[in-house]
Amino acid sequence: MSTQSTVKVVTTHVLSEMKLRGEKISMLTAYDYSMARIVDAAGIDVILVGDSASNVMAGHETTLPITLDQMIYHGASVVRGVKRALVVVDLPFGSYQGNSKEALSSAIRIMKETAADAVKLEGGIEVIESIKRILSAGIPVMGHLGLTPQSIHKFGTYTVRAKEEAEAQKLIEDAHLLEEAGCFAMVLEKIPAALAEKVSKELTIPTIGIGAGGGTDGQVLVIHDMLGINREFSPRFLRRYADLYSTMTEAVGHYIDDVKNRDFPNEKEQY
Ligand code: KIV
Repeated sequence: MSTQSTVKVVTTHVLSEMKLRGEKISMLTAYDYSMARIVDAAGIDVILVGDSASNVMAGHETTLPITLDQMIYHGASVVRGVKRALVVVDLPFGSYQGNSKEALSSAIRIMKETAADAVKLEGGIEVIESIKRILSAGIPVMGHLGLTPQSIHKFGTYTVRAKEEAEAQKLIEDAHLLEEAGCFAMVLEKIPAALAEKVSKELTIPTIGIGAGGGTDGQVLVIHDMLGINREFSPRFLRRYADLYSTMTEAVGHYIDDVKNRDFPNEKEQY
């Protein structure tokens, strides 16, 4: 029996209804047209055009180098492949922090040039003015708390966040701040499961967890990680649903052999 949502087109309103009736929200990243088509046709609720494109598409060590123009390219490619899912595009590092006017103009560019449904940005009180300004233009905002990879140079590691009481308390306050400002949902990344569950119960907007346990209202993974394309990254929270690295390596090896052996193309494969 399929457990996919029966919803036709996913909107931010649909996500809040899903939370109300206790239906879990499924979210995956995608960065290009072909992958987005597959993920959407499979029935995913939300597609995130994450700035993790900086890592898995461009090969950078961090998410910091990716630019607004590059995020717009990925976002527009994804939107062209999607019929049903809600598409959220990450605002990249440097496009919204410390300047709410610039944040608004970055978000407007994303909405105009990609036709996505919403933007996501990282942080709590530090970026609340940017969030409010973007929301004032009618652009839906997804928040992102816990491990915020754009702040890697502040924290120095990608380890679990908010294990200490003070950081957990700040995260709870930030979560309420984002909800009060008008965010429609938020990602909770790599925090203790008990804390994520507490926040999810306290909030009326949906929480989407990654490495945050089963108590959040939905789950998100990076598609290259869950399909096993990216082998190097193996955190505890990651479940691999395929081993595409092996499948693709074997297929490419097979092709190379066929070319070298003059087996490809055969008579039927030519004009
Ligand atoms: O960029 C990204 O892929 C993300 C997810 C890990 C939530 O922000």
